Amino acid sequence: MTTLVSELDLPVMLMADGTQARRFGGRGDLPDGHWLAKNLVGYTVWHYDDVTAILRDKRWHNASGRIAEIMGVTDERFLLRQRESILSAEGDTHVRLRRLVAPAFTPRQADRLRPFMREVMNGLVDKVAAQGRADIAVDICEPYPIPIICELLGAPKSDWQLFSRLANDILEIFSLDMASKIDFILATQAELDEYTNQLIADRRNKPADDLITDLIAAEAEGDRLSTDELVMMVNAVIVGGTDTTRNQLGLSMSLFAEFPDQWALLAERPDLAPRAVEETMRYFGAVRGTMRFASEDIVYRDVLFPAGTFIGIGLAEANKDADAFSEPHTFDITMSHGDQPQLTFGSGIHYCLGQALARAELQEALPLLAQRMPNLRRDGEIEWKPDGVGIFGPAHFPVTFDPGH
Ligand code: HEM
Repeated sequence: MTTLVSELDLPVMLMADGTQARRFGGRGDLPDGHWLAKNLVGYTVWHYDDVTAILRDKRWHNASGRIAEIMGVTDERFLLRQRESILSAEGDTHVRLRRLVAPAFTPRQADRLRPFMREVMNGLVDKVAAQGRADIAVDICEPYPIPIICELLGAPKSDWQLFSRLANDILEIFSLDMASKIDFILATQAELDEYTNQLIADRRNKPADDLITDLIAAEAEGDRLSTDELVMMVNAVIVGGTDTTRNQLGLSMSLFAEFPDQWALLAERPDLAPRAVEETMRYFGAVRGTMRFASEDIVYRDVLFPAGTFIGIGLAEANKDADAFSEPHTFDITMSHGDQPQLTFGSGIHYCLGQALARAELQEALPLLAQRMPNLRRDGEIEWKPDGVGIFGPAHFPVTFDPGH
């Protein structure tokens, strides 16, 4: 028998996106014996099976284009832009965009950048290696992704600073008080659009070995990306690819600081890097949750969710689900917890487009850091970033380590 969701007697969770247990190990106040709870804007699921079922069901649409709306933004210029992004596009529009851009985001494309990733990371460690102390969040994680995104796009080194400022300002869309910053965000977006248009014009004249050239050339069945769509993709790469990667690196390192044996093992066995990345992302992922809304009336597990219902998807909690992973609360980079993929890159049609690049960045960074920062120890409390929309990580993370490596 089908029951209307609002008629169920459900426990209540506070966070809108289903992210309760922010600190690793903690389960927050997840209600036992339930699979569905109420939250501020709708409902929440957090079991691996429900999370994957909903993410793979195309009738549930990505709510990222509506977060601004939920947070009280009424500026039509901003809302329109959000709806046009690959992150929030749905149906045929989304399929078309994914088909066009997917070839530019393969593991092979990411692998081309691995030597450059090592160069960037070595440069960052060089600055702190002699003193044997660092703020991992500020000295290592924060600056790491920007040069890589620039190199990926084909932006010259002289633009790193400019690019870094634009990216950081644009990322204000993830802050909780974004509604009050809307003019600032729009102005930055206009500046970035102008910059990107210039890059595109340059590559049209003179193709190079980079993402923009690949995207300009991308063609499927006679179809091509328009200039506006190219600009949107560059925006999506910046929004999707910088804060996520730097926060994930910070969280992964914070875990290793608590598990020194695993850190020493990774230094000894860099071949464990891929496992280390999957395990740290499962155990302590930077994207704690996401959101969907019902594009039509949907019946799931005998519950009717009327069109428009919002649902929070607890990725972090699903990554610790004992029905999906064996010993989910054990952190061990040598251990397989089962065949299921960790969910910090999402699942279904919106599965992270940049996953190969992000995996490569983390797989290069972690063993290099393990070798150059032996005996990593936390040197004080970690200061966590304020709760934003879904992405989480350290703001300050002081460490000491054996100098001179
Ligand atoms: C550790 C780093 C990263 C994490 C944890 C991460 C996580 C995610 C997640 C969870 C989604 C799906 C969101 C949803 O379904 O609601 C997603 C989508 C996306 N990511 Fe990532 N991401 C990372 C790095 C990157 C990088 C490096 C790029 C770009 C180069 C990127 C670009 C994108 C794009 C464009 C989408 C939208 C795909 C679509 O909707 O079809 N991400 N990411």
